[in-house]
Amino acid sequence: MTAAYSDAFVFFGATGDLAYKQIFPALHGLIRDEGFNLPIIGVAKAGWNLDQLKARAKDSLAHHGCVDPAVCDKILDLLQYVDGDYNDPNTFAQLRAELGQAQRPLHYLAIPPSLFGAVAENLAKSGCAENARVVVEKPFGRDVKSAKELGRMLQQYFPEENIFRIDHYLGKEPVQNILYTRFANPMFEPIWNRDHVRSIQITMAENFGVQDRGHFYDEVGALLDVVQNHMLQVVANLTMDPPTGEDNDAARDRKGELMRAIRPLKAEDVVRGQYEGYRKVHGVAPGSTVETFVAIRLEIDSWRWAGVPIFIRAGKMLPVTCTEALVEFKRPPKETFGEHVPNTSAHMRIRVSPDMSIGLGVRVKTPGERMVGRDVELELRRQAADDMPPYQRLLGDASRGNTELFSRQDLVEAQWRIVEPVLGNVAPYYSYAPGTWGPEEAHQLIANDGGWLDPTVTE
Ligand code: BG6
Repeated sequence: MTAAYSDAFVFFGATGDLAYKQIFPALHGLIRDEGFNLPIIGVAKAGWNLDQLKARAKDSLAHHGCVDPAVCDKILDLLQYVDGDYNDPNTFAQLRAELGQAQRPLHYLAIPPSLFGAVAENLAKSGCAENARVVVEKPFGRDVKSAKELGRMLQQYFPEENIFRIDHYLGKEPVQNILYTRFANPMFEPIWNRDHVRSIQITMAENFGVQDRGHFYDEVGALLDVVQNHMLQVVANLTMDPPTGEDNDAARDRKGELMRAIRPLKAEDVVRGQYEGYRKVHGVAPGSTVETFVAIRLEIDSWRWAGVPIFIRAGKMLPVTCTEALVEFKRPPKETFGEHVPNTSAHMRIRVSPDMSIGLGVRVKTPGERMVGRDVELELRRQAADDMPPYQRLLGDASRGNTELFSRQDLVEAQWRIVEPVLGNVAPYYSYAPGTWGPEEAHQLIANDGGWLDPTVTE
């Protein structure tokens, strides 16, 4: 059965950063590509009026290159605004009035999680939660216990199939493409296991710092900001079993099995780093020990992956901006031609950003009399950037009631279970110079498994 399209789009935090950076551009794309035509109601406590919100929307659209004048006018036409406190029932009475005839609104909570409870409860009390969908942003809790509490609280007012937990990595075309490439081709599955894979490494590098997000970032750090969510999603797409069945839960069920098979981290599996100068960023505590870089070693307790180490490193102020995974295959049992072959010569490289590419590393013979060769990479796919920005794809899916690319309560809890033992200052941290690949200790973590392969980016 196809679920009905939502009939109003409400976003809390309308004057905030996420609305400016993601929501207005996503709405532009939805109107342009899908004929999205719903009342758009912004809610915030900013003392603003509708004209101010329209000015902000215009500015956001111009800033993000959304230049189709008819589409921009349409957004401004559809836009409404409710200003008020999230704890005040009057705010929600006003919202109900603005919703008019709408019966199935979509509420997007682009606000700090500490406010979810008040908003959800007031939506319910004011009659705005009936048949409604709710979209929430990460972080979903701070550990298993708080994630459970958050889940229970939301489920009190919204059935699970109407709760959409956004992890924007799931909306990225190249992340989707990992699953597609693995399961749409017959040759990968037979070698996708511990008999043939030596190790997997993923690098998520950003060549910029925490910018104006010091206050937010200092409460989370790299492990919670991107590893507990985005990087674990990439691990799941790389390692999960093929889904069976076609419903929204088929892939998520497999993903759940995989996440539950990942061994919880121990302090010795983790290296944390902080770039020099981080403590001077506005909003960061002067003596902060929060990490801006983290490297971890994971293991999956399953027949498929037993004994295959999975390394992840993610950090700010690194030499490049690039996210890339490398599946490294075992060499043949004997080098037949007596060559000294680099460990990494048999691999599959999957780049998620800034562009998308998939490459297969193989040896080819160098022309000549001698049986010697060199490493080449066979490029399977190269594509410039995302066709459709993740937020556009995800908000379109949520409006259609399609939960497939959203996280589920059991998955969120399984992800917390992995990182929970190393939250806080369990693992020591080291400082690193901006523009380097993090602290030396991160290299030691992987030294016995061939070392990190630094992605290169040509502008
Ligand atoms: C966000 C993090 O979730 O993802 C940011 O909060 C990070 O710190 C960002 O920079 C990376 O996303 P993308 O799509 O730019 O790779």
